[in-house]
Amino acid sequence: MHIGILGAGRMADALGTQWARAGHSLTVSGRDPAKAAALAERLGPAARAATWAEAATAGEVVLLAVRDYAVLEVLAAAGAADGTLRGRVLIDCTNPVVPGRFVLATEGGPSMAERVATAAVGSRVVKAFNLCHEDVWRMTPPVFDGTPLAVPLCGDDQDALATVRSLVEDLGCVAFEAGGLERAGLLEATAAFAIKLWFGGLDAQAMLPPLRFAQGDPV
Ligand SMILES: NC(=O)c1ccc[n+]([C@@H]2O[C@H](COP(=O)([O-])OP(=O)(O)OC[C@H]3O[C@@H](n4cnc5c(N)ncnc54)[C@H](OP(=O)(O)O)[C@@H]3O)[C@@H](O)[C@H]2O)c1
Repeated sequence: MHIGILGAGRMADALGTQWARAGHSLTVSGRDPAKAAALAERLGPAARAATWAEAATAGEVVLLAVRDYAVLEVLAAAGAADGTLRGRVLIDCTNPVVPGRFVLATEGGPSMAERVATAAVGSRVVKAFNLCHEDVWRMTPPVFDGTPLAVPLCGDDQDALATVRSLVEDLGCVAFEAGGLERAGLLEATAAFAIKLWFGGLDAQAMLPPLRFAQGDPV
């Protein structure tokens, strides 16, 4: 498929590299055209650099990979209010986490994914890829102790979820359908919660029991 990427930073590079390797073509965009061009060059012959609006309209799927404070500005520059993203699968990997405080910048209001859905008129937003560091997304594949990394997805459109599922599988991960877009804020909060633990040197993964113990003692 053809994937547009809004952003030319680390997440655009990590996921774009995986999807180029899987055979997808890409249109990347950033506020610095030279940086977007350099990323397209790194991604290979199936990638090109373009404007925000061109990346928004280039394909059926668009990855939103900019800093949280720039999200609405970038969507506006991409023409989202005029419907450039209408009908497209819009993957939101952003984390609205306040640096140092590890709380949500969106606290008290809609989640970032819901703000994205409102701004990107008619788009089919799926929250995904926000829980792990870019270096994890670069792994080929992200498999730990024989278990492929699970990628939770939150979205309302079944076809969009199926599309993102296949992009998750391109990385060698498995998708967990984790509910509708109204649950995306929980996914954003999970990131904020885990990041603080990780910064404190604590293994966030260790705080949850295996599935067989999740609803009580299995014996
Ligand atoms: N890095 C990770 O490990 C990771 C993991 C999960 C989720 N995320 C989330 O993914 C998103 C992207 O993260 P990243 O690590 O790829 O960030 P990044 O490397 O800093 O790249 C962010 C992109 O946003 C652009 N940008 C920043 N401020 C902007 C502005 N005011 N107007 C327009 N564009 C602007 C940057 O342009 P310039 O290059 O010109 O600054 C760059 O293209 C963030 O929301 C982050 O929370 C990151």
